[in-house]
Order: sequence, then structure tokens, then C-alpha cells
Amino acid sequence: MSIPDTIKHEIAGLRSEIERHNYLYYVLDSPEIPDAEYDRLFRRLVELEEVYPELRTLDSPTARVGAPPSEEFGPVRHTVPMLSLQNAMTEGEAAEFDSRVKRFLGSEEEIDYVAEPKLDGLGVELVYEGGIFVLGSTRGDGTTGEDVTANLRTVRSIPLKLRGENIPDRIEVRGEIFMNRADFDRLNQARESREEPPFANPRNAAAGSLRQLDPGVTATRPLDGFFYAVGEVSGQVPDRQGELLEYLSRLGLKVNSLRRRSRGIDGALAWYGELLLMRDELPYEIDGVVIKVDRFDLREIAGTTARNPRWALAYKFPPQQETTSVRDIVVQVGRTGKVTPVALLEPVRVGGVTVSRATLHNQDEVDRKDVRVGDTVLVQRAGDVIPEVVRVLRDRRPEGAAPYRIPGFCPVCGSQVVRVDGEAAHRCVNIACPAQVKERIHHFASRGAMDIEGLGMKTVSQLVDGGKVKLPSDLYTLTMEEVLQLDLYAEKSAENLLKALESTRGTRTADRLLFGLAIPLVGIVVARILMGAFSTVEDLLNANEERMVAIAGIGPEIAYQVRAFLSEPGNRSEARILWEILSPLTVSGPETTDLAGKTFVLTGTLESFARSEAKVRIENRGGKVTGSVSSKTDYVVAGADAGSKLDRARELGVQVLNETEFLALIGESG
Ligand code: IVH
Repeated sequence: MSIPDTIKHEIAGLRSEIERHNYLYYVLDSPEIPDAEYDRLFRRLVELEEVYPELRTLDSPTARVGAPPSEEFGPVRHTVPMLSLQNAMTEGEAAEFDSRVKRFLGSEEEIDYVAEPKLDGLGVELVYEGGIFVLGSTRGDGTTGEDVTANLRTVRSIPLKLRGENIPDRIEVRGEIFMNRADFDRLNQARESREEPPFANPRNAAAGSLRQLDPGVTATRPLDGFFYAVGEVSGQVPDRQGELLEYLSRLGLKVNSLRRRSRGIDGALAWYGELLLMRDELPYEIDGVVIKVDRFDLREIAGTTARNPRWALAYKFPPQQETTSVRDIVVQVGRTGKVTPVALLEPVRVGGVTVSRATLHNQDEVDRKDVRVGDTVLVQRAGDVIPEVVRVLRDRRPEGAAPYRIPGFCPVCGSQVVRVDGEAAHRCVNIACPAQVKERIHHFASRGAMDIEGLGMKTVSQLVDGGKVKLPSDLYTLTMEEVLQLDLYAEKSAENLLKALESTRGTRTADRLLFGLAIPLVGIVVARILMGAFSTVEDLLNANEERMVAIAGIGPEIAYQVRAFLSEPGNRSEARILWEILSPLTVSGPETTDLAGKTFVLTGTLESFARSEAKVRIENRGGKVTGSVSSKTDYVVAGADAGSKLDRARELGVQVLNETEFLALIGESG
């Protein structure tokens, strides 16, 4: 039976259409059509291929899944060995690498380098023949890897068919397969809900997924890839790394835009520093920067050792995990009475800073990880986040180490510590507990609340211990004499503190005052929503839970906490007194949502505040901040030294704001 030409045409048309959308979505991260429309095209193609199975091909977009499980992975010998990289841990070692390169090249001249993120995944090689993906393998021992073709076919950012012009007859492409953090988190959540053991990190998850004997399983795992090198290629390829990456990109392969070419090693070192700052914000994990000699003819001259090329270096980031020992476990009492167990550690350098404490969160976490005094533990630090204990190294546990239990009495005031039903946290029941009082006053004075300059924890501590201050409102009855009695204060600074207190009258907005009360679950965003809805303190005090949940953005848990806090007679009168003293400015409701639905990407250095603060400001107005630029991005805010994100914004025609324009948009200019 002959197949009508119209059908053949439709199938060909659908395939190239779907491929184009795959490319836009998975490689360029900028889809043009809604998912539903894509699904429609895809289903139509599946339908036609079911009716005309003789028209199925290996490079059809439908052919990614469905290969049967195999018994084992066959060996694949790499035509050109897949070498590993020499490592550097310090700037000095990186500079030595540069000197070595110059020595091997017999040249004093500065070398052109390309520096790229070192992805924390698995090295793979893809072979394309006639533009079709025919063989995919792991790095293995560098000489021989494993045939994981069927698994790699399921990775959407790997094209089954190359794009563009002048596709070589045969090309070996090399790169890294990894899992994005968000996908990793989702995968682990799903595993835990099925009571399967979670993966330790995205790298292990990617490795475990790629080495599945059943490609059907791999297909359910969200893998991604970046490509950065070639093995053997028939025909001409560019003669520099920078151009090679552009060439690979033109073939439809995903390449990392976070690369930088520079003359001399200094530029590469500077890029290392920048990537180190961006590290925690990237959607995937990187563990350093790979610095490569740009020109291939120079690479040829430099040559390789048995294991490493002499022209490339992995300049590693400081590790974000280290082992150390637990000296003690203590509890910390927060402003809401929450009792948090904290491990006091033998100080250790992690990710460039010294860590001597790590939060253990709550009793459940202590039990789950079974952390005991004397244990050797793995600690982890990411960005500004409080260091955490990842796990205990059980085989190093000293004899007699006992399980830890949160004490039944508050270490600060001696009151009972209880665990409220349905809550993970233990709390000190005494609302007059000095620890709570200090934390509360400190919070009240903090930047996001009343912003009282000079009222740090040391001062607060002395004021509370001296019996001068129990409630935030007591701050406003302090006299010059009382302040001068504190160890920390000379005449001038005492005067400044009283002035700072005075200056908060009539100048702070009501949401900041509500936030300053430290009601559980009431952050500045919630406070703004509430004070936008209830313009006076009396209105808020009179509101029941029902009225609160009727407000967009306020859920039952928040309403319950606000109500519970404000039903307490002491808290009610304190709220009224503070309102009286401070006469806060009203906040208008809509101000909170003028950026609703807008997506921002921040890049470069802003002068007015840190990126994290800019993020809060955007979120406070209902906007969203993401890490990478796509066609869905509404604004890119570019500070000084903005890099590839700015380039990408221009490529995609996304609106770019400089700092002044951004300040105007959020109403903070002038
Ligand atoms: S280039 C001969 N570039 O790191 C040099 N490798 O320790 C070939 N890796 O096996 C490697 N990101 O799996 C290169 N941007 C990058 C990389 C990268 C991660 C991995 C790769 C390699 C290992 C070497």
C-alpha cells in the first residue's frame, strides 16, 4: 500500500515544527507557543506514526522514549581519549598554570583564555552521523565508556538531529549532563512521598538517572546538558574555543552562555570571582571554572600529559561542605519563644568563611540526622544561608555519645519548654522570657521595622538585663540618664540613640510597625497586605479571622496567628500604645501589587542596595525574581558590570532597566 504524499508531508512538517519548538524550549529556554499547542502537535504526530509505522524514524521527536531495557551497557571506545583536568585550589596555583602554559609555548605574550563554568555533572560524548544522533557514551575511564545512547535520547536538550547548514558527516560532541536544582528538589520530594531514598545531591541524581538499564526510567528524570568540546570531526571546525562554542550552538546544541574570553589570566580569574558570587543563584550546581587556552593551534603545541591536557585547568571553588566535630549542642530562644537546637562546632572553613555554629532546626531534625555531642559531621553552607549539618559520619562516633533531647526548661528563664501539637518547634511558654524580650526588641528596632540606628543586640541586652525595657514602647520613655548608665554609652552616642528613637515618630509606615510586633507568620509582605486592608490599629484589633481570610494573600494560618496574638490583652494594649506614640503613616493597598505578574532578572552590581534587597522590594510589590533570562522575563535590571544576562536580554528584546529606571519603577527614586 502506498502512502499518500499529503501524509508524508504532514509528518515531515510536524517533525520539523516540533523540533523547532523543542529547540526553543529546551536549548534556548524561550518557548514561542503554549504547552497545550505543543502537546497537540505532538499527539498528532504520534497518531500518524501509529497509523503508518513504516514512516517511523530514529530521529523523530517521538523516538525519545520507548526503547526497551537492556541487560548491560555495551563498551564504547572513544576515538580521542576523554581526558580529565588538572586542578587548582588557589589563585597562586592558577597563576602557575598560566606560567606553565607560557613556558610550554615558549612565549612571554599574554595568552587568550576562555573561562567556562565547571558543571558538576557527568561527562558524555555524542556521535552524530549525517546530522543524526547515533551513539552516546559516558566518559568511563577516559578511553572506554558505556553505551548510554537510549538514555541520552530521552534528554530533551540533546537534539536527535542537528540544525543549521554545513553539518559534518560525522562529529563527536562532548559535554556535561546534569540536573537542575529545582528539578532535583522536585524529584526528591516525589521519591520521599513514595518512601524511596532521596538522592544526596543533583550530581548523584544525574548519574543514577543516566545509568539506568531501563531508558523508560531515565525518561522520567529531568536531565539537562551543556556542550563544550569536540572529539573527532570530519571536515573543518573553528580553530578557537570561543568560536567552537558558537559553532556548536548553531548546530542546535546547548552551550553555556556564562563563558568569558580574556587576554591574559587576570580576566579569567576575575570571571572566577564573579561566578563564585553568582554560584548560589544559578539554576544548576557548578564547582569551579574551567580555564582553557582559546587557540587550538596553541593547544596542539602545549600538548597533553598522560592524563591531562596542559592547556586547560579546573580552578575549583572552595568546597561548600566540610567535616568537623560537634563540641556541644545548645538551644537558642527566638523572639516568638521558638527554641532552636544549635550545634557548636570546632571552627572550620567552608565556602570561604569560618563556621562555628550550625542550626539543627528542631527535635525532628535532630532525631532524623541523629546528631550527638562528640560526633563528626558534614556541614554545609550555601550563600547567605545559615550553615547546616548534612549528616553524621557514624563510624567516627565516640563511645558513649548519647542522643540529644531539647531540654524541658528554657535555658534563659527556666520556664517550661513545650511542643505545641502539630508544630515541629518547641517553645518557651513565658512571653516575658528575657531571650524573647531581647529578640523582640531587637526585631522591633531592625531595619525592616522601625530602623532605629544604634540599637543593636548589645544595647538591647543591657537595657533588658537592667530592667529598663520589657516592651518596645518602653524604649520611648528612656531618659538620658538611663542610657548613660549603660556600659556602651558616652554622652554623644546616648544623645544619638534618643534622637534616633524620636525620629521614628510620624515617619514610619503602619506595615513596618505591625511587622515590628513580631507576630508569627507576619513578615513585611503580610504586614503590608494587612495594613493596606485595615487602615487603623482599631480596625485590625476588631477584625475576626473570617474578615482576615477574605483578604487576598491572607490564609487561615496567618489569620489564626494574628488573631491569637492580638487577643492577648497585653499585646492589644502594646499595639495601641505604639500606634499612639508613633502615629504611623498609612499604607495604601494597591501599592503592594503594582508589579503583580511581572518577572524580573537582576544582574550586575546595584549601588543602592544588595541584589537580595532589590528582590525583596520587587516581591513586596507582587513581582517575581528569577535567575535566568527567557522570553517570559519582563524586565532585566542591569547594575554595573552586568554580564551575559544582559546580553541575553538584548538578544531576546527583553526590556532592560538601569538602576535609576528601576528605582523609579519601584517608587524609590529621589
Ligand atoms: S573541558 C580535556 N569544560 O570536568 C578537557 N570539562 O575534570 C575536557 N567538566 O571530564 C574537559 N564542566 O566532565 C570541560 N566547562 C567544562 C566542564 C568540564 C565540567 C567536567 C568534564 C571533565 C571533568 C574534568
